[in-house]
Amino acid sequence: MHVGKYFIYACVVILICFLTGTIVLAAEPPLKEDACAACHKDYSKIMPKKHPEVGDIKACLSCHTPDPADHEPTNFSVEIHKIHKNGKNKLKCAACHSF
Ligand code: HEC
Ligand code: HEC
Ligand code: HEC
Repeated sequence: MHVGKYFIYACVVILICFLTGTIVLAAEPPLKEDACAACHKDYSKIMPKKHPEVGDIKACLSCHTPDPADHEPTNFSVEIHKIHKNGKNKLKCAACHSF
């Protein structure tokens, strides 16, 4: 029954890999502190032209915080990823996130 035993071991190893992989993917990569200010000093310059009137322009993330219970990308994060991935500047994930 040696084969059967190793088969079980292999299954356990694969299962562990699968579980940890899922946990890592489920965790939202946290943003660095002042993730945007590192490159954007003047937020009025990166404010989308079509944006609801918000008065005093503060850090974007002061309003655009994701719902911690909902791991779906927000319109905001989709937009921000698109801008920095497709533009002249392809930012590495670590430019904004601390992994
Ligand atoms: C490492 C530098 C860097 C960081 C960090 C960064 N950006 Fe940018 N961002 C850029 C550059 C460079 C551009 C110009 C985009 C291009 O043309 O490739 C840009 C463009 C933008 C634009 C489009 C501006 C326009 O002219 O339409 C927005 C909006 C924006 N960034 C928001 C953000 C937000 C929000 C954050 C923080 C979550 C952030 N950026 C973090 C470098 C950065
Ligand atoms: C005072 C709050 C506030 C601040 C600060 C703010 N926003 Fe918004 N933003 C909103 C609201 C409200 C909407 C309307 C849609 C919504 O409810 O998310 C919006 C919508 C957007 C959208 C359209 C996608 C979406 O989420 O619906 C983008 C892109 C956006 N904002 C980018 C920015 C950027 C970049 C900054 C920083 C320069 C910023 N915002 C700062 C409140 C804010
Ligand atoms: C310009 C800054 C910036 C860069 C570069 C960036 N992200 Fe993000 N990311 C954000 C912001 C802003 C959010 C939404 C706020 C939050 O989740 O705390 C976010 C959220 C996320 C989320 C949570 C789901 C979502 O979309 O809201 C994942 C996953 C993610 N980023 C992965 C990545 C990966 C992988 C890369 C590299 C390919 C990357 N990000 C590069 C700014 C950035």
